[in-house]
Amino acid sequence: GTTLGAAAARSGRYFGTAINASKLGDPAYTTIAGREFDMVTPENEMKLDATEPRQGQFVFTAADRIVDWAAENGKRVRGHTLVWHSGQPQWLQSLSGSALRQAMVDHINGVMGHYKGRIYAWDVVDEAFADGTGGRRNSNFQRTGDDWIEVAFRVARAADPDARLCYNDYNIENWTWAKTQSVYSMVMDFKQRGVPIDCVGFQSHFNSGNPYDAGFRTTLQKFAALGVDVQITELDIQGAPAATYAAVVGDCLAVPRCAGITVWGVRDPDSWRSSDTPLLFDGNGDKKAAYTAVLDTL
Ligand code: XIL
Repeated sequence: GTTLGAAAARSGRYFGTAINASKLGDPAYTTIAGREFDMVTPENEMKLDATEPRQGQFVFTAADRIVDWAAENGKRVRGHTLVWHSGQPQWLQSLSGSALRQAMVDHINGVMGHYKGRIYAWDVVDEAFADGTGGRRNSNFQRTGDDWIEVAFRVARAADPDARLCYNDYNIENWTWAKTQSVYSMVMDFKQRGVPIDCVGFQSHFNSGNPYDAGFRTTLQKFAALGVDVQITELDIQGAPAATYAAVVGDCLAVPRCAGITVWGVRDPDSWRSSDTPLLFDGNGDKKAAYTAVLDTL
């Protein structure tokens, strides 16, 4: 039979998963991950606290395990994530102003330099907008000035010109939400002013607070029309209804610039929201109904 990655490749797309380095020693895990997916995203190993636990001292041990595993198994890597309000080491949280801005620049250069030429796309900035109102999230980076996002993208372009540069966020799947409109306006502004951005990642954590809505396809089309790729970057769906998984895949396939889909984990117990059983494989490693629905739609 075929696999998710092979099925997605028939339309030039990828099908990925988040990978946790601590599970690469589990053959049940690597058997499924190795067989089904052709793109991997380190779930936590490239985050600020993991890669720069002390200022200027970079640690790539865990992230390298994933990138090396991907290379050995012929898979591409989405880098996740360079600048985020969460997962920050203590030293970074104590900085502000120009010192924090410089630390951001140095961090992007340090991490992207280490992985130069090996990353398909980077989530340069993750989750910079607030829920509800759609204003900027009040993070330490935001307090260094509104231009912090475009600075991050310009530095990233110079650090690895071959990597696609993405803005990634959650609760931007519904076209009618204020947060979606705010991100859309930012991307339009970046394209008009020549700020280097290549893709927008829609995390797509669907649950009762952010239910899947058929308007997702409109959102993907609108962003793609700005001249960026769109990617579904962290897909999981509470309860994993087969019809909803099929609808999400159908939305991506309907948009030529939807480059691919990544699910946020392999088996339900691997999920950050394991009690939602939101993934495509159960704890025994067996394919769920949602798996079949995805494969049949691809
Ligand atoms: C989550 C991981 O899955 C957890 O293991 C970790 O404890 C917290 O981060 N948005 C993102 C991801 O961009 O990095 C988050 O991943 C989930 C929400």
